Amino acid sequence: MLTKEASPPLYTALIGCGHWGPNYLRVIQQLLGVEMRWAADLSPSRRESLSRQFPQVKMTDQVSDIWDDPAVQAVIVATPAASHPELVEAALKAGKHVLCEKPLTISPAESDALVALAAEKQRILMVGHTFLFNTGIRQLKTYLSEKKLGQLYYLHSTRTNLGPIRSDVGAIEDLASHDIAIFNYLLAALPEEVSARGHSCLPHAHTDLAFMTFAYPGGVLAHVHVSWLNPVKVRQMTLVGSEKMVTWDDINVVEPIRIFDAGVMQEPYYHDFGQYQLLPKQGDTWIPRLQLSEPLKAEVEAFVAAIQTQSPPLSDGAFGADVVRVLEATRQSLAAGGAPVKIASA
Ligand SMILES: NC(=O)c1ccc[n+]([C@@H]2O[C@H](COP(=O)([O-])OP(=O)(O)OC[C@H]3O[C@@H](n4cnc5c(N)ncnc54)[C@H](O)[C@@H]3O)[C@@H](O)[C@H]2O)c1
Repeated sequence: MLTKEASPPLYTALIGCGHWGPNYLRVIQQLLGVEMRWAADLSPSRRESLSRQFPQVKMTDQVSDIWDDPAVQAVIVATPAASHPELVEAALKAGKHVLCEKPLTISPAESDALVALAAEKQRILMVGHTFLFNTGIRQLKTYLSEKKLGQLYYLHSTRTNLGPIRSDVGAIEDLASHDIAIFNYLLAALPEEVSARGHSCLPHAHTDLAFMTFAYPGGVLAHVHVSWLNPVKVRQMTLVGSEKMVTWDDINVVEPIRIFDAGVMQEPYYHDFGQYQLLPKQGDTWIPRLQLSEPLKAEVEAFVAAIQTQSPPLSDGAFGADVVRVLEATRQSLAAGGAPVKIASA
């Protein structure tokens, strides 16, 4: 938690005030020791609407106002993904620390170039993989670290809704970027291979429905279903291990996690002691009490802490670049009709 002693304030600026960007204005207003000095957007109506809500923040349509303000130490980029490379590069070259929304870029080469530039300029580059700061996901990570589930067999994630439909990227980049980030974090690894099938059901150039299977080291399979064409908003994940099974439901804000003492037992056949039968075991179900907090607030706090300590945050540029690498391999598999595609490490 930031305290009043964190002075002088860390001045930040926001680029992109569409659907998501204003959440940063709201969250930073709640944090001590951090102030939003500028907010930039190309749209006059977005600037006008936000200047009424946040009169203390200077609105501009010129990002050069931010680059030229020496008081601004850190920039948050919340524009569509295609504009990330140019804006992040300019921010780093202006000497600013950067928190860029996901996905960091569309192509892995662009991400790698930004990671190298941040290292050269000795600036923090963080990617807004919000779910790494979600209390429920953190709890799943603890269970895996403590081997509470036994041997992990597989993970499954569903991330569907009716829209919102983006015009710059498809559902894979928009939605599966979250699941890939969560899997990479939980398993502390990149998948070795992906195979993906999907469709563009709507009349646009992007994939709006996809089913993806990622093969992680140790034979762990992770399956994801993303869709912009689903009647129900679902944000659910299941982890299945040899000892326990866990579900996480991001939409259940009171009790997001359930732990099932479920599995399969080996019982001896009574007529032949040399053989065993496999029997389902359905024990108790627990609902742990979690102290839920806003993930975006925790993410911004981690960004500020990384700047203050000059140490890489959890979702640093390299982590974000790995997610982009997995997205690229997923697109290649999709284009090859689901053929497995190896994922190159950095
Ligand atoms: N972490 C999350 O959970 C989460 C959730 C939603 C969106 N996002 C990400 O946030 C980013 C923005 O998404 P959105 O839904 O707000 O998009 P949006 O299209 O609603 O808003 C983008 C805004 O950026 C502005 N803009 C574009 N180029 C600009 C430039 N060069 N300079 C200044 N302003 C510019 C546009 O005018 C628009 O107002 C995307 O990368 C998206 O993936 C993340």
